[in-house]
This record gives sequence, C-alpha cells and structure tokens, in this order.
Amino acid sequence: MSTITSSNSQDTDDDVVPSLTVSSSSSISDAKKEDTSPTQDKKKQDKRAADEVAEKLGVVPTATLEKPNQRKRASFWFRQWLTLSQILDPIRIPNSHVNYQCVWWKAISGNDANSPVRDGGLAYDMLPPLTRWAVASPLASKYPRFHHANVELRTKYLDNAMDQIIQKVRSAEEQKKCIRIVLMGGGYDLRLIRVAEHYESLLKEENDHGDNEQQQQQQQQNQFDLVELDLPRVIAAKSELLEKRFLRRRPELTDLVNRIRMIGVDLNKITQVETVVRAMLEGKDLDMEGNEIVPVADGVNAGDKANPMTTGSSECFTIFIFEAVLIYLDDQVPSRLLSILSQALKSRGESGAICFADTLLNVDCNRQDAAKLELEEHGWELQDWLPKPGRTRHMGWASLASG
Ligand SMILES: C[S@@+](CC[C@H](N)C(=O)[O-])C[C@H]1O[C@@H](n2cnc3c(N)ncnc32)[C@H](O)[C@@H]1O
Repeated sequence: MSTITSSNSQDTDDDVVPSLTVSSSSSISDAKKEDTSPTQDKKKQDKRAADEVAEKLGVVPTATLEKPNQRKRASFWFRQWLTLSQILDPIRIPNSHVNYQCVWWKAISGNDANSPVRDGGLAYDMLPPLTRWAVASPLASKYPRFHHANVELRTKYLDNAMDQIIQKVRSAEEQKKCIRIVLMGGGYDLRLIRVAEHYESLLKEENDHGDNEQQQQQQQQNQFDLVELDLPRVIAAKSELLEKRFLRRRPELTDLVNRIRMIGVDLNKITQVETVVRAMLEGKDLDMEGNEIVPVADGVNAGDKANPMTTGSSECFTIFIFEAVLIYLDDQVPSRLLSILSQALKSRGESGAICFADTLLNVDCNRQDAAKLELEEHGWELQDWLPKPGRTRHMGWASLASG
C-alpha cells in the first residue's frame, strides 16, 4: 500500500520544501533503478506547483527544487554571515524561530527593483549598519532565488489578500469605523507600517475635500488600529530596534510606529491569549507582557499606543495575519487559536477575517476541502486558497462565519 508522507528537513528555514514523498515498501528498490522514480516524479510535480504559484502571484519562481545542494551551501554561508552580523551589531536581537533571518530575506526582496514586494528599503533599515550592505540594491537582485524567494511568495500573497479584504470592507454599504490589523507572531516584520502608510495616504488623497472639521473626522476614520503580538522578549527587542535604529533612519514614521500596540504573549498559553485578545479588541492598552495598563489618574494614561478610535468600538473590522507562526506552536494550539479569535469577535458583535501564509492543522496534501472544514469547525469561512511548497504551505484567507 502506498502512503504519502511529508518529510521536512530539520533546517528551520521556511524554504525547505517538504517533498511529498510517495513511499511504497514493495517498489522502493525497483524505483531506485529507474530515472522516473516516484520521488523524482513528485519533485517535478512540486516544482511545477511552485512555479504555478509564483506565476499567479507575479513573482519570479524559486530555484530551490532544481538546486538542492547549492541551496544547502547558500544556507550554510548565510548562517555564518548572520552570526558575524549579530556579533557586530550594537543592538543584540534575539533570533526567535528564524525571525531574524526573515528580516534579511525581506530586505533582499525589498531592495530588489524587480520584485513586486519591493519596499523602498524599509526592511533594510532594520538591519545592522556594518553588515547590511550585503543586501543593498542592486546587489539584492543578484542572489539565487532560494529562501528569500519563498518568503517573497508569502509576502505577495498576504499583500494581495489584505488588499482584497480592505477594498471589500471599504466598499461595504455599512462602513466600519476603522480597520484593525493584528499581526500574530509578527517578529521583526514591518507589514503594519507598509500597509498603514500605503492605505492611509491613499485614503487621505481621496478625502482631501470639505471643511476642516469634516476633513479631521475623515482623517480619523482613515486610521488603522495596528496591533502586534509575539513573545514578550521579541516584543521588547523589536521596540528597541524600532526606536534605536529604524526611527533614527526614518524619523518621519515616528507617529505611525508609536501607534502600534505591541503586546507580549505566548500564543501557546491559550487562556492568557484569550484574555489578551479580548482586552485588545476592547481597545485596552496592554504592556509588553500583555498586562493591562491602568490609567494612573483621570485623563492620564500610562501608555500612549491605544488608538482612541477603537476604544470600546464595536464598529471595527479586524484582520488577523498569520505568517509562519502556526508552524511553531504546540500540538493542537493552531486550531484552538482560530476558535478563540472567532469567538472573541462574535462575543463583541464584530466582524473580521484571517489571512494566513502558514500551515493549518488537519489539512493533508494541501486539500482545499480539508482546509475549508478545518476553518469552518473553528468559526471561519474560507474565501481564497493557494497552497505552495515550503513549510508554510497554506496560503489563504477566511471571513468570520455568520451564526
Ligand atoms: C518565522 S518567524 C515569522 C515572523 C513574522 N511573522 C514574519 O513573517 O516575518 C516566527 C515568529 O513566531 C513567533 N512565535 C513562535 N512561537 C511563539 C509563541 N509561542 N508565542 C508567540 N509568538 C511566537 C516568533 O517569536 C517569531 O517572531
């Protein structure tokens, strides 16, 4: 009997493609003799699938599957470079579940003039001064398309999905007071800054009419509520990095960065997550450990990151983003998290969506019907589905299910 198993290398890179290896006890030795072994066929199939996803997203295909040895060497040298870079970095950044690598990969695509996710050097500005030149433009476009190219697929997919959702929310008859974006396990990613900068300036241009009061009101309505959740030590490190490096290079983004509510929480501690998510939806101010910040006196709040637009608001549309975080959580936690989020929204009568470039539980062989079922069981209705190779093989988005 043939069984299909997903074999991941222990390398923690997202670029490690789980080759769906078909193994059959009776045919292994025969298959080895022939060029057209099931493994070879499967690799070809995976390569075709990967190329199709890249084409759909307008991204140059990855080279991972054709050049596995070269990829391993690139991985090795990249790790040496990271170690050196961390030693030379005056700000010591903890590398939690490859989130430090992710900034480098995002900086490569961000600086690549041909990439659909180029970011004008935003991610580059998070990197250490002495070593970041290695991914400066135009060098960035010369790297073989291994790890960063796979991350590029995720970034582009999530950009598209968020664009679709934001357009839908804005064109809905019943206009929401605000859109809230919550990065789950955001690491050192700058998605919130990219999104808010892009849409807020777009909306400002659209609404730059009318008298001053009307304009001010409109401007408030155009603001996004921005939230990030990650482990407390990552949140603390990111805050330091933003303040001591990023904002010195990009002082014009100070107000925007200060609006982000950075909340520390271990997503494996499900009861704590529930409390934090509910408090976050209520617009409460939470510290880096996920504790509520109590105002010290009337009108004086110890924190300044809560968006006044959202406090106690049930008129927000919340978008939760999962990018390469579910894969690191404990057994069964990903499914329970999905339930907690949908229930928290429902209990407040709010609407929302989740976007993911990650791996869902209980979805064998990337099957759309299995993904639909998994999401339905936890309160979400699948709207789009695009599986890809790599550890984060499920890309899609889902809206809060009614009822
Ligand atoms: C591969 S990184 C991805 C970071 C970011 N989403 C990106 O794409 O750049 C995984 C992130 O998940 C976070 N993470 C892993 N386990 C976590 C947990 N139990 N609770 C909160 N965050 C966690 C890590 O700290 C890290 O920032």
